Amino acid sequence: MKQTFSAYNIIQKKRDKEKLTKDEISWFIEGLTSGEIADYQMSALLMAIYLNGFDKDETIAITDAMLYSGKVLNFSEQIYIDKHSTGGVGDKTSFIVAPLAAACGVKVPMIAGRGLGHTGGTVDKIESIKGFKTEISLDDFVKLLKERGVVLIGQTSEIAPADKKIYALRDVTATIESIPLITASIMSKKLAEGAKGIVMDIKTGNGAFMAKLSDAKKLAESIRQTGLRFDKNMMTIISDMSEPLGNAVGNSLEIIESIETLKSRGPTDLTELSLSLAGGMIYLAGLAKSHKDGIVKAQTVLDSGAALEKFRELIDHQGGDSRVIDDYTLLPQTQSTYEVKAQKNGFVTKMDCKALGMHCVRLGGGRQKTSDVIDFAVGFIMNKKLGDKVKKGEVLATIHCHDSQMAIAKEIGEAMTKKDITIAATKLRSKKKLIIEVQTKFATKTKTKTKKR
Ligand code: URA
Repeated sequence: MKQTFSAYNIIQKKRDKEKLTKDEISWFIEGLTSGEIADYQMSALLMAIYLNGFDKDETIAITDAMLYSGKVLNFSEQIYIDKHSTGGVGDKTSFIVAPLAAACGVKVPMIAGRGLGHTGGTVDKIESIKGFKTEISLDDFVKLLKERGVVLIGQTSEIAPADKKIYALRDVTATIESIPLITASIMSKKLAEGAKGIVMDIKTGNGAFMAKLSDAKKLAESIRQTGLRFDKNMMTIISDMSEPLGNAVGNSLEIIESIETLKSRGPTDLTELSLSLAGGMIYLAGLAKSHKDGIVKAQTVLDSGAALEKFRELIDHQGGDSRVIDDYTLLPQTQSTYEVKAQKNGFVTKMDCKALGMHCVRLGGGRQKTSDVIDFAVGFIMNKKLGDKVKKGEVLATIHCHDSQMAIAKEIGEAMTKKDITIAATKLRSKKKLIIEVQTKFATKTKTKTKKR
């Protein structure tokens, strides 16, 4: 360490609402990475940041320090674009978006995460395909990307190791929901992948970490600003997460729904958001005149089947059994299902999306503690969505569970009908928009495009 500060003084400064300097922040993060700063000191600083915030300069400084705590890749061509989501329930867009963009010529370096709390993880889901390798060295990642155009791997210890430590501490110190800390966590990893542009899907609603739209907007702004300071082209899409995206929740079930979507038979909300995200990637890559033009191009490769073939190639190149595309029985499946039936006539007006996500975790589809092993087969299908008309006795959701889990499925079914899925006599006046806001900023251009829908 070049200059020596005092961890105590830095924590005290932030506790007393003072601004930290770039040098103080990078000294602290370097110390954490090398083991010279104790976890309890980092935890105290995290709580001070959570309570008193970080301004734009401090957010850039912590992102920079976390980014350079590990290896940093840098691709020089504009066509290297990634997409990332802040996390949600049933959010499986990566499996559709990456092949759509890659089939249009975008190079997609995707380093994804595992499930977190009530939200599912891309890496867990893809691992339900037998043989699919998500642990690849960074050198092989670059080689595969250059040759094949799309790679999907899990977080490696070579990328932003400071985030790994900080994330684990935030998880147990109630400091997750902080805009500067989420920005630094996501952006340090995304920037290290070396993509020239990033499309960020920022979720809002009761199934998202940023439940309030005003907070989602602040997070989008913070992420865009940070990306621009690192010379990246940025698109932020704020999308609704007040119900699961698509119908399937659970690892194998979500892979099947993604393949169905690539076969043009997917749910409309999932298809719409995937096309928008892929269209954004194609636009940022310079392969479309506008976001709208990017969406048209993505639709073309969806219709032609080229994106489905890209997904097949991706599975093949990463050692997975691509026969799952034509034969879903090759994916882990449960022996039983349990139907959750409506208790009355009416319209679905509200869902507790976070609670629904937690039901999947309870069945074994997510982790309650880090050592838990994921059960790829379990989950549920939402047979009804927000705004749908239902009749008493109609199926609201179908739980996929093992024979031994029937009692749990029954309890989950009761929770769904009594608390998590609200049925009211009158229809919602207007259904929430799925895509709430799109903003694009090019690093080299000053023009901002905002689209509110
Ligand atoms: N995803 C991340 O990687 N980090 C956060 O802080 C939140 C979501």
